[in-house]
Amino acid sequence: MKRVGILISGRGSNMVALLKAMERGEVPARCALVLSNVPGAPGLASAAERGVPTAVVDHKLSATREEHDAKVIARLREAGAEIVCLAGYMRLLSPLFVRAFPDRILNIHPALLPAFPGLHVQRKAIEHGARFSGCTVHIVDEECDHGPILLQAVVPVMPGDTEESLSARILRYEHRTYPAALRLMCEEKVVIEERRARLLLSCEEYTQLVSALMDRGD
Ligand code: GAR
Repeated sequence: MKRVGILISGRGSNMVALLKAMERGEVPARCALVLSNVPGAPGLASAAERGVPTAVVDHKLSATREEHDAKVIARLREAGAEIVCLAGYMRLLSPLFVRAFPDRILNIHPALLPAFPGLHVQRKAIEHGARFSGCTVHIVDEECDHGPILLQAVVPVMPGDTEESLSARILRYEHRTYPAALRLMCEEKVVIEERRARLLLSCEEYTQLVSALMDRGD
């Protein structure tokens, strides 16, 4: 069983999806800590309700990004976290942080990287006229929204979509893609080869996984 730390800044619906997958035994891990940089983030209460230890490290109380990150690293280490999941954690990580957990930090991004990195990416996909967007789970490296891709799910952009409607459609796919990616990490089925992540899955296993992610469920 791997020990996972989850970092959030807000609602925490991806965090809850990860916790539920661990509770159901679909991901061989337990959550050692949910940490937020925002005091009162709604996700903290959701984690506490599920009996998971929580912590707050308010970034406003640190003078620099490195000072804040050093406090977060210390809390994660104390909790024994081996893998770190960013789940709506709206802070850029310093190189100090990335190097503290090399190839062990995952992020979920609500677009198909490398298209639309950054913020408000659902709105950017609509404004750009993209027909499809989706979500990406990737390993965090020292560049923003850049590291090796673990899994993606493709989601159509519908005529008349607003930022809200597209975000809600993509979020449903995020909730299944993130647990599937964490499972691959926990089962040590990911090999990082420079900019790419190789998955140790047979063709059949990979096809099954991709079809499960793409299942519209309606
Ligand atoms: C999710 O859509 C996640 O992909 C996005 O924030 C939302 C958090 O929702 N993350 C980013 O944009 C990171 N750059 P949640 O708090 O309900 O999981």
